[in-house]
Amino acid sequence: MEEISNTLASLRQEYGNRELDKGNLKKNPIEQFKDWLDDAIKIEANEPNAMAISTVSKENKPRSRYVLFKDLINDEIIFHTHYESPKALEIIANPNVSGIFYWPEIHRQIRFEGKCKKASVEISDSYFNSRPRGGQLSAIVSKQSKVIKNRKEIEDKINELDEQFKNVDIKRPENWGGFSIKISYWEFWQGRNNRTHDRFSYSYKGNDWNIERLSP
Ligand SMILES: Cc1cc2nc3c(=O)[nH]c(=O)nc-3n(C[C@H](O)[C@H](O)[C@H](O)COP(=O)(O)O)c2cc1C
Repeated sequence: MEEISNTLASLRQEYGNRELDKGNLKKNPIEQFKDWLDDAIKIEANEPNAMAISTVSKENKPRSRYVLFKDLINDEIIFHTHYESPKALEIIANPNVSGIFYWPEIHRQIRFEGKCKKASVEISDSYFNSRPRGGQLSAIVSKQSKVIKNRKEIEDKINELDEQFKNVDIKRPENWGGFSIKISYWEFWQGRNNRTHDRFSYSYKGNDWNIERLSP
């Protein structure tokens, strides 16, 4: 343990001097988000659309996991999952979620808070139909987060279904689809040298976004 503590204590990264200032911030956080996501894609950040989403269980236990941000529709963040998964059941019981993107290559983090609901059937169908066949089969077979005996159990079911649906388009199962998040709070973090990071929050107040600089 002492060894790990020493190793961690010696990890020290400087974050460069990319600036974030009120003058170069977009008035609308969605535009700012799009700019930063574009930058992350341009520099080929690893999985630039991976975001962690936190929900709260009925027992008041907070839980986080990564999902893939797949679209921005009507300024809402879309991701797809199993509707009977723990995260989906938690969202249906309590729509308040928080999420986070981190692009270490450019020392940027975006945090958001909002309300989440099932996306429309059209959004879910359109994304499901765009998935490779393997992903479609796996979505049907997986009872996400349930305990299984072994990997073979899933592989056998996928092979069985693949045979059953040979030469047939696979339809989205009703228990799999999108969620959309309407965001009411955004926070942009730009890492800077000597831990003097730049941070700005956007809170939706009245009919507009109120932008504030936060202490690092
Ligand atoms: C980078 C990354 C992306 C992921 N994307 C998704 C996704 O888009 N949808 C999904 O259901 N699970 C995704 N997962 C798996 C989830 O993190 C999680 O293990 C799973 O959804 C079960 O979560 P739950 O038990 O909280 O419902 C991803 C995992 C990683 C590491």
